[in-house]
Amino acid sequence: MAETPQGQGQETLSNLLQESRSFPPPADLAADANVQADAYDAASADRLRFWEEQARRLQWEQPWSNVLEWNPPFAKWFTGGKLNAAVNCVDRHVDAGRGDRVAFYWEGEPGDTRAITYADLKDMVCQAANALTELGVNKGDRVAVYMPMIPETVVAMLACARIGAVHMVVFGGFSVDALGTRLDDSEAKLVITADGGYRRGKPSSLKPAVDDAVRDRPAVENVLVVRRTGQEVEWNEGRDVWWHDIVDRQPTEHDAEAHDAEHPLYIMYTSGTTAKPKGILHTTGGYLTQVAYTHWAVFDLKPESDVFWTAADIGWVTGHSYIVYGPLANGATSVMYEGTPDTPHKARFWEIVQKYGVTLAYMAPTAIRTFMKWGEEYPAQYDLSSLRVLGSVGEPINPEAYMWYRTHIGGNRTPIVDTWWQTETGAIMVTPMPGITHGKPGAAMHPIPGVVVDVVDESGESVPNGHGGLIVVREPWPAMLRGIWGDPERYKKTYWSRFEGLYFPGDGAKRDEDGDLWLLGRVDDVMLVSGHNISTTEVESALVAHNKVAEAAVTGASDPVTGQAIVAFVILRSEAGDGGADMIKELRDHVGAHLGPIAKPRQILVVPELPKTRSGKIMRRLLKDVAENRELGDVSTLTDAQSIETLKEAFQESGKSDE
Ligand code: WT7
Repeated sequence: MAETPQGQGQETLSNLLQESRSFPPPADLAADANVQADAYDAASADRLRFWEEQARRLQWEQPWSNVLEWNPPFAKWFTGGKLNAAVNCVDRHVDAGRGDRVAFYWEGEPGDTRAITYADLKDMVCQAANALTELGVNKGDRVAVYMPMIPETVVAMLACARIGAVHMVVFGGFSVDALGTRLDDSEAKLVITADGGYRRGKPSSLKPAVDDAVRDRPAVENVLVVRRTGQEVEWNEGRDVWWHDIVDRQPTEHDAEAHDAEHPLYIMYTSGTTAKPKGILHTTGGYLTQVAYTHWAVFDLKPESDVFWTAADIGWVTGHSYIVYGPLANGATSVMYEGTPDTPHKARFWEIVQKYGVTLAYMAPTAIRTFMKWGEEYPAQYDLSSLRVLGSVGEPINPEAYMWYRTHIGGNRTPIVDTWWQTETGAIMVTPMPGITHGKPGAAMHPIPGVVVDVVDESGESVPNGHGGLIVVREPWPAMLRGIWGDPERYKKTYWSRFEGLYFPGDGAKRDEDGDLWLLGRVDDVMLVSGHNISTTEVESALVAHNKVAEAAVTGASDPVTGQAIVAFVILRSEAGDGGADMIKELRDHVGAHLGPIAKPRQILVVPELPKTRSGKIMRRLLKDVAENRELGDVSTLTDAQSIETLKEAFQESGKSDE
C-alpha cells in the first residue's frame, strides 16, 4: 500500500482482515428452507413485483393500486391499500383457527411466567383499544409507551396500531430528560407506563420518572399505569388511571378500522450521540411487509413448530420489528424475557432456551462477547440442541465472537445470520440466508432479495471486490423510514445529501475478494493512520481473535507522527487471569501479524468495562476523549457514567506509551 498525504487516502477504507473459514448450511435446513436461491433472481428481475408478492402475506381490507410512488427522497408504498396492523398480527390468526397457539411465553425476571395465546392477545388488544378510545385517544394521536418488558407493552403498542394512534416507545432505562424531550417532540397526549419492572433481582421504578416528565407538560392528558411490581406510586387524581381499572372492564370485541398503507404506525427516536434525537417515522403497509418477510426468510420460520426469541428490549427497533410486528404478523410463538442475562445466574439465557425449547434466537454481539468473557461453562450446563438458527444484530460481530456463538451456543451446527439494518431501515437489509448462504465469520454477506445495496467510494463510485468504502442503498425499500417526525429538511440532509439519489446510512463497509459484504462500523469512527483509513472494527476483531481477549474497543487519537494513532481498550476473558507480563506486546504483535504493521495499536489498556450506550453499542467518542486526554463529552446516554471516569484515570496512570 502506497502512503498518501494525510486526508487524501486513495482508499475510502482499508481492507485488512482476511477470512477463509466458511460454513455451508446444514443439508436438512437447506432442503426445507423457506427461501431458495431463486428468490434473489425473482427479486432482481422485478423488484416491485417481488415486494407485491411479499405484501400478499398480509391481510388487506382493500388492495393497493400503486406499489411504489417515489419522489426522492420521499417514498410511498402500496398506496390505495388499506389494512390494520393489529388485525394482521392477531385477529387473522384467531380467525384462521389458530387461537390456541401461544404468541408469547413470557418469563419475568423473578421467575413468574405467563403463556399468552393468540386468542388471549386478541381479547387483551381489543380491551386496550376500547380503553384508549374511552381516554379520548383518536386516530393520529401520539401515545408514549414507557414500560418494562411485560406483555402489556405489546398489547399497548397493538392497541394503538388498532385505532390508528401512533406509538412512541421510550426505552424504560432512559432518564426523565430523555422521556421529556421525546414527549415534547412527538406531542404525545397519553403516556402508558407501569409502576416498575424487575431488573437485576429487584424492582426498578418507572412511574416516578413519568411523574417528573409530565409535571410541566400539560399536553399529556393521562397516564395509564400497569401494576407490575406493586411498588408504592404517587397518584395524580384525574390524570393517572390504573390499567386494571379501565382496561379489564372493557368488552373484548372491537371493530378495527382499516388504515391507509401509509398511515403512521410508530415513531422511534434514534439513540443518536449528542445531537437532538431524531424521531424516525414508520408507516403501516410497507413496514409490515418487510418485517414479516424478513422474519420468515432470515430465520427460516416454521410457525407451527419454531420457538423464536429476540433477546432485546421492545424499546429498540429490534424489539418493535422482531418481538412484536414480524413474529406476530407471521403467527409465530415467541419467548419474551423481562430481565438481565445474569439474574439470578450467568446461565439464565441458556436456562430459558432449554425450558422453552427455543429454536431461533436473536441477540446482540455485545451480549455474545459478554457470554464469551464469562466462559463457555455456563451454556454447557444446559441442553441447547433445540436451536437451529442464531442471529446477531446491532454491531459488527467479530469473527471470533461469531465462532464462539456458533460453537458454544449453536453446537457447531447452526447457521449464524449476521443481520445489518438500522432504526431507519425498519427491517433487516443485509444478511446471510440460513438455507442458502455459506456463512463467513464476521460478514453480513448479501442484501436480501428486493434490496439494492452497494459499497461506494467518496465520489459515489462502486468499489471493486477487495475494497472498502461506504454502504449505500440504491433503491427505496418497503420498510424505509418515511422521514424524521416534523423535520423533512433534516431527513434530506442526514440521509440523502452525501450522494445524489442514494440513501447513506453512515456506516463503513467493504466488499471482500468474494464480493461478500462486511460492515465496518460508523464512518465517524474510521481512523486515519499515516494516510490509511482503518476501521475500528477490523482492529477490534483482530484483538478479539486473541485467545485472552473477550472484547475490545478501538479509537483514533491524534498523533504528531502518524496523524492519528490507534488506541485500544480490551477486556480479558475470565480464564486469561491478568493476561501475564508480556501481554501488551503480545497483543500488539498479534494485531500486526493479523492486519499488518500499520494497524498495530500505539497503546493498549486492559480495562474491566467499556463505556456503552444502553442498547449495548460501544461509545468510541468517549474513548477518544480519554485517549486524547480531553474533557469527557456528553455521557447522558451511557449505562454507567462512573465507569468512564475510572477508565480515564487508569489511562492517565498507564502513561503515554507501551513501547
Ligand atoms: C447501526 C444501527 C439494527 C437494529 C438495532 C440497532 C450498527 C446494526 C449491524 C451489523 C454491523 C451493525 C450499524 C447501524 N449495526 N447491525 N449486523 N453489523 N453493524 O439499530 O440503533 O438504529 O443502530 O447499528 O452501525 O447503522 P440502531
